[in-house]
Amino acid sequence: MNKKTGVKILSTGSYVPERVLTNFDLEKMVETSDEWISTRTGIKERRIIDKSQVTSDLAYNASVKAIEKAKISVDDIDLIVVATISGDAPMPSTACYLQKKLKAFNATAFDISAACSGFIYGTSVVKGLIQSGQYKKVLLVGVEALSRVTDWTDRNTCVLFGDGAGAMIFEASEQDDDIVSSYLGSDGSFTELLDIPAGGAINPTTEETVRQRLHFIKMQGKEVFKVAVTKMVEAAFKAQQLAGLSDNDISLYVPHQANLRIIDAVIKKSGINKDKVYINVHKYGNMSAATTIVALDEAISEGKVNKNSLVELVAFGAGLTWGACILRINF
Ligand code: UT7
Repeated sequence: MNKKTGVKILSTGSYVPERVLTNFDLEKMVETSDEWISTRTGIKERRIIDKSQVTSDLAYNASVKAIEKAKISVDDIDLIVVATISGDAPMPSTACYLQKKLKAFNATAFDISAACSGFIYGTSVVKGLIQSGQYKKVLLVGVEALSRVTDWTDRNTCVLFGDGAGAMIFEASEQDDDIVSSYLGSDGSFTELLDIPAGGAINPTTEETVRQRLHFIKMQGKEVFKVAVTKMVEAAFKAQQLAGLSDNDISLYVPHQANLRIIDAVIKKSGINKDKVYINVHKYGNMSAATTIVALDEAISEGKVNKNSLVELVAFGAGLTWGACILRINF
């Protein structure tokens, strides 16, 4: 029998827009306060995409950094997968817009939609497609321009989100298996807890849907919070169990950065060591599919990930979806 094809992780890269929107700036836009936002979410500021930029520009900037670090040519890339819920347009995929900007014309390109769990879903999709023998060098991007689908008059949501992008490059390998394990889950009975109600088949775009502001993110925050904590703890444990690993084997946890209180609740419920948890929610807010990969890239740049160590990403998001993956970082 042929040796099973594994996956080597070659590099990461990330990019956040330059414009910083602080809690104090938000105080001038809606009835809120730095005090409320800081204590309820841990967020201090977030990055906002420039008027001249679109989602695929953020993805492009993160991808170029990852491609340079991996020392590969764009022509080597045979698959581009983009996880996003705030893409350039409903059609075609943001992956195709990114392909055009990168001039990566030897690649197949498509998007996946799993909201904040999108990057983790992406690692599973990439692993399967590489193992099947169909693709050899893959670019996976988690990217969001959430500011474009945020209702800036709704204080319940507008204080939470930010824009950014992260990228990872993988290659087929006979020696390595850097996507050590992954566990994914979803429950469609919760679709209404977090959604963009209009612009699809349920509520096609009309003057009325625009007037009712139905093209922006709506969320029942408290309900999402509860499911998030339970499912992140479950996913983190299941991904370890699938690989025959335990907390001791994980050198860094990179949880979805939606709310510091959610991260703290996950730490408390799971019993994991707080010192092993990477947090950057104060700087960027919730960048949905981009959060875990931007955080991982920053942790690596800051020297917080030792070579050949195991990192676990854990997330949840609209759907509801959730998941965890354990990655070996060895580059
Ligand atoms: O990636 C997945 C995306 N979603 C999430 O991660 C969100 C999960 N949920 C959360 O993070 C939290 O539920 C929120 C941060 C959204 C809200 O925190 P909370 O502790 O659940 O607050 P709440 O919704 O119960 O609101 C408490 C109060 C309300 O006032 P009343 O009804 O008690 O008078 C809100 O109207 O706080 C009010 N409030 C605000 N006040 C000042 C809501 N938003 C704001 C605001 N500034 N921005």
